[in-house]
Amino acid sequence: MTTRELQDEIIRLKKEKDVCVLAHAYMSRDICEVADFVGDSFGLSRQAAKAEQQTVLMCGVRFMAETVKMLSPQKKVILSNPVAGCPMAEQIDRDMLLQLKESYPGYTVVAYINTTAELKTVCDVCVTSSSAVQIIRNIDNDKILFVPDCNLGSYIAQQVPEKEIALMRGGCPTHVRISEQEVLDAKKRHPEALLLMHPECRPEIVKYADYVGSTTGIMAYAEKSDRKEFVIGTENAIVQHLQFACPDKKFYALSKDCVCHNMKATTLMDVLDCVKGEAGEEIVMSEALIRDARRCIDEMLRLGDG
Ligand code: 13P
Ligand code: SF4
Repeated sequence: MTTRELQDEIIRLKKEKDVCVLAHAYMSRDICEVADFVGDSFGLSRQAAKAEQQTVLMCGVRFMAETVKMLSPQKKVILSNPVAGCPMAEQIDRDMLLQLKESYPGYTVVAYINTTAELKTVCDVCVTSSSAVQIIRNIDNDKILFVPDCNLGSYIAQQVPEKEIALMRGGCPTHVRISEQEVLDAKKRHPEALLLMHPECRPEIVKYADYVGSTTGIMAYAEKSDRKEFVIGTENAIVQHLQFACPDKKFYALSKDCVCHNMKATTLMDVLDCVKGEAGEEIVMSEALIRDARRCIDEMLRLGDG
């Protein structure tokens, strides 16, 4: 079968079987082309709540499928490949956080959405990379404990200096691979290019950025800009999506190593098999887990609108 034949079959079957296909922007091009919605974590969580179909196939990683399930508990939610987890989400569990909280009495506990549903049950508010700064500004407490990404946390602390933000030493193993030398090399090789970065990169790298934002934020910035060349400091799928979206502009990967193997675990064939009902993993969560974990997601949606 060719890529196009596979895609046509997926499009035909998802209509026939009433399946909504959501794809995170780090998924490969062939998968994004057959999705009903492609976006960053915040966009996906909003879209999940709106989808009319009874089955939602989440092409991404496990915490994203759990978020979809929490927002649409009555729907059948499928994770595109059962091995696709987020290593950052595994860096802290419920017991570790309960222990950490004892050292921070009076702090509002803010969790990056890249965390397990179980962890979310003991957090106050959830944030995504695109909503974090606004939400933390809107929280009615000057003391924040932010978990688990210390790089995103440092970026937020810089943007919201009026608050005291305590961090733990977690982070994304994909973005952490980008080195300062790669930034210096890219600047030398592409002196006219703007440097667009994800806040999951380390602060010593982010300081060179012309723009810092989520995957969707980076794409929107590059698409709207009058400039013609961009170095992209996030997962390399975004470089390719931008090349397709703006064929008259040039995009370069900041690091050839910025590839998330978990996001790449899902193939187009997996998507076909999932739509057929022969692959993927149905997300099953107890009512109590959904109720307790959803509180901080609802809080995110409420404060993100403010
Ligand atoms: P965003 O899509 O919210 O920018 O998050 C990036 C990421 O690392 C998702 O796992
Ligand atoms: Fe997790 Fe980083 Fe991969 Fe996103 S890019 S899923 S944060 S490991």
